[in-house]
Amino acid sequence: MKILVINGPNLDLLGIREPEIYGSGTYRDLEKTVYDAAERAGVEVEIFRSNHEGAIVDRIGEAYGKIDGIVINPAAYTHTSVAIRDALSAVAIPAVEVHISDVSKREPFRQISYVRDVCVSSVVGHGLKGYAEAIGILCDLLNKKSK
Ligand code: DQA
Repeated sequence: MKILVINGPNLDLLGIREPEIYGSGTYRDLEKTVYDAAERAGVEVEIFRSNHEGAIVDRIGEAYGKIDGIVINPAAYTHTSVAIRDALSAVAIPAVEVHISDVSKREPFRQISYVRDVCVSSVVGHGLKGYAEAIGILCDLLNKKSK
């Protein structure tokens, strides 16, 4: 079983970026959270990060037939990108949306998610450990499917 974790723009700046909102954990810490969770779950994982919408769309398309589940934090593109939404819909790979901060309690524009209804679940406001939760959700789902 292989899971792809996708992170959108500015998440490389974690740690220095508005720590009162995103916490003090760095992108390295995020990666470690993901690798540790994947190891615990016994699944293969790949992490992809880009500031570019098209690169994220390309990576989702390339996942077709090769990846069993996607964890995605589209970051700012969550609130704007029909293209990322369409890519997730097109490949129909089960995906879980993650946000480090609680977008439901922030500016009104952050409460719009173009990807939410094409994802099987959303983990919002649980910090970096939200990525571990998302991997757990996907593994449960994929294990049930394979039975
Ligand atoms: C974010 C929330 C988005 O609104 C924001 O643009 C981000 C990060 C989060 O993880 O909390 O870049 O997706």
